[in-house]
Amino acid sequence: MNTATIVIDPAFSVSPVRRRTFGSFVEHLGRCVYTGIHDPGHPTADADGFRGDVVELTRELGISTVRYPGGNFVSGYRWEDAIGPVDQRPARLDLAWHSTEPNTVGVDEFMRWAAKAGVEPMMAVNLGTRGVQEALDLLEYCNVESGTYWSDLRRAHGTEKPHAVRMWCLGNEMDGPWQIGHKTAQEYGRLAAETARAMRMIDPGLELVACGSSSSAMPTFGSWEATVLAETYEHVDLISAHAYYYETDGDLASFLASAVNMDRFIEDVVATADAVRAAQGHTKRINISFDEWNVWYQEATPSVPPKDTWPVAPVLLEDHYNVADAVVVGNLLISLLRHSDRVQAASLAQLVNVIAPIMTEPGGRIWRQTTFHPFALTSRYAVGEVLRVELATPTYETTRYGQTPVVDAVATHDAATGAVAVFAVNRSLAEPTVVELDVRAFGAQGEGVEVVEVLTLANPDPYARATVDDDTSLVPVPNASVEHAAGGHTVRVELPPVSWTMVRLAVPPTAG
Ligand code: AHR
Repeated sequence: MNTATIVIDPAFSVSPVRRRTFGSFVEHLGRCVYTGIHDPGHPTADADGFRGDVVELTRELGISTVRYPGGNFVSGYRWEDAIGPVDQRPARLDLAWHSTEPNTVGVDEFMRWAAKAGVEPMMAVNLGTRGVQEALDLLEYCNVESGTYWSDLRRAHGTEKPHAVRMWCLGNEMDGPWQIGHKTAQEYGRLAAETARAMRMIDPGLELVACGSSSSAMPTFGSWEATVLAETYEHVDLISAHAYYYETDGDLASFLASAVNMDRFIEDVVATADAVRAAQGHTKRINISFDEWNVWYQEATPSVPPKDTWPVAPVLLEDHYNVADAVVVGNLLISLLRHSDRVQAASLAQLVNVIAPIMTEPGGRIWRQTTFHPFALTSRYAVGEVLRVELATPTYETTRYGQTPVVDAVATHDAATGAVAVFAVNRSLAEPTVVELDVRAFGAQGEGVEVVEVLTLANPDPYARATVDDDTSLVPVPNASVEHAAGGHTVRVELPPVSWTMVRLAVPPTAG
């Protein structure tokens, strides 16, 4: 049996828990918008055609921000097509996903959906086929009160108050040769800087995200960030990072260690941003918006419709997740949380149907994938400060990352209420691991510490999946192995192989 120890100390604070860590992404792609969030014929649909059951699960998932409308889609998008009377909107070819975009849902509808779902919208502008002027027009439409062409048009379309969008992405994955309007770092950096500078003339309070690399495996990774930030440093606040992971060649051991890659990716972007800061003599820091991350079996699910067809809302990227995928998603959130000092926003890509935790049948049922649960529980119970934990764990050999920790974990602590949550994974394929949580730093040598709840997601078959007919069997369940002697300063819990666990403790509150 493996054993590991985790020392948790409220003094090891990384940063406050940021609600924006729990963002997601809605792209005009496949069935994410049409028959996903929007399905006018559905029994729960509202007057705008938005499904009430999707809104409900979005809230249950604990989503904070939603990035919109893409993704690759945004690089060919004319946002003006999707405003005003719906029956007068043109249908357009969507080159990114070889689909037809009916433009039934546009910026005003999305903002209404966001308000209903209780999420903060995060908009992306098209810097692929378009440029500074179109970004300014969209910003004027969204954020200017009244008295100008675009703001008055918004009012004429029925939205009197500005949408007041704070976070804006300056394009999407402009480093990728697949991107419409793909650019060199120098070309993109100049355009992003000029777009940002002009957008701030309209609204100085914006938070702007420059495109970083679409993966740390891109040949331009590192030099892309350095060049883009050299051009944009004073005009932007954040640089994006995107990462998708999946099991290849039956190598579950490496797949389970995906967070090792995410950790390095974040640390490399931080180092690059800080190097530009030093070289240019800035005082502010550029932080990271990890605005696309997830498990995505890129070679297993169709990413374009059948040849020579341009369907509306085809079935694309509809990955069906298993227990191991959920463990990886939980572990990626652990990585994002422990870097909360510099990762200041993140978006699980995507929200519904497209590589998503929520699945819908057109006009029919809704269900939760396995990946839904670690996200929902982390979003709900990660409160207060993120704590770096001191971890002593055995390691195991992986083909991709060499010797890798078997256990990974992070904790959060809310001093005002005394709520502590520990999120942990056991990456071992076959061995359970007994974890000893050392909580002596709380109260007097751990006195007054109580175990509130321990939930574990695991299954003898790590490839087991939830289905539309049964999405309640593969969920986190109470972990009966937990041991804690009253007044003791150690909490012991056994983590099954390939598992994700949340331990909730109550410790004496310390803040007023
Ligand atoms: O999330 C799916 C796609 O992945 C996005 O459109 C793109 O930005 C990324 O490559």
